[in-house]
Amino acid sequence: MKDMERERKGWKKNRIGILAALLIILSAAAILFWPEQNLEERVPEYVFTYAENQAQDYPTTLGAMKFAEMVEVRTEGRIRILVYAEGVKGAENDIIRQMKFGGIDFARVSLSQLAEYIPEMNVLQLPYLYLDSEHMWRVLDGEIGINFLDYAGDYGLVGLSWYDAGARSFYTAHRPITCLEDIEGMRIRVQESDMMADMVEALGASAVKIGYADVYSGLERGLVDGAENNWPSYESMNHDEVARYFTVDEHTRVPEMQICSEKTWEKLSEEDRNIILECAQESALYERKLWQERENDSKHSAILRGAEVIELPAEEKERFQAAVQGVYEKYCGDYMDIIDQIIEAGKVED
Ligand code: GCU
Repeated sequence: MKDMERERKGWKKNRIGILAALLIILSAAAILFWPEQNLEERVPEYVFTYAENQAQDYPTTLGAMKFAEMVEVRTEGRIRILVYAEGVKGAENDIIRQMKFGGIDFARVSLSQLAEYIPEMNVLQLPYLYLDSEHMWRVLDGEIGINFLDYAGDYGLVGLSWYDAGARSFYTAHRPITCLEDIEGMRIRVQESDMMADMVEALGASAVKIGYADVYSGLERGLVDGAENNWPSYESMNHDEVARYFTVDEHTRVPEMQICSEKTWEKLSEEDRNIILECAQESALYERKLWQERENDSKHSAILRGAEVIELPAEEKERFQAAVQGVYEKYCGDYMDIIDQIIEAGKVED
């Protein structure tokens, strides 16, 4: 009898031991897998929308996804940002307007579009302003760049970070642009931007404003003879299929801004705002790296698919540059001091 009692007690002790061990293992697993498992399950306090008009695999979209992922992890699942790529939320100018009223929370937009609402933004996208990419980044990463992020406030937006969009060049459907005379009389698609339209007209072409999503059909249907953009957009939107002559004139570098609606910003605590700013800046560095790789890849893919590259000789580039000088005074006459500082920054060695 006593033996049976001892055995029972032994079992009891063992069971308690096994249960305790199980509990320890389970809690260790919960700690180990906490972030990933629970972020999915956790009901977020905020679910925000992020609008992006590029394809899923495009550097700016990948930057947006990185941003959303970092924000979710660093706010422990309190803030979830849903990235809508491929322009499904609308054209950039509509997005900007909706953001003023809080209809969309976040976006990455081309400065050309933003400048239609905040005219001083034109300063940072003037034709032939920067000598190269290093020059532009010296400006955007410095005091001028920070000040211009703040100007987003003039239209009810918060400027979070700068994304790269490289340099823009002309491409045409039926005949190449090899000199200034070639562009004369051509119908060229431009963004919905008055300054870009004037720039193209100053070169002797007629400007046609068309939204990004409709450029392919505009070229295909012959509404325009050509367009202008960077290598990744040219390749990603398949513009090379309908405009195979790519003239490397690099007339503009149009940076892109990651923005947040002030209406959304007002809902957030100081701590969350700081997390968002930090993640935006980090995602921008990530995007810049992806951009450099994509620029080369896109150029090579387009060439393999049949694009013909025309390098504009230096003296011809100077003629293009001289022809567009009028837009400096017309659009940015009040900001000549900042323009001088930007030009000065080009003379500094890295
Ligand atoms: C670039 C830019 C887009 C913009 C487009 C355009 O691709 O990244 O945001 O819409 O130019 O030419 O409209």
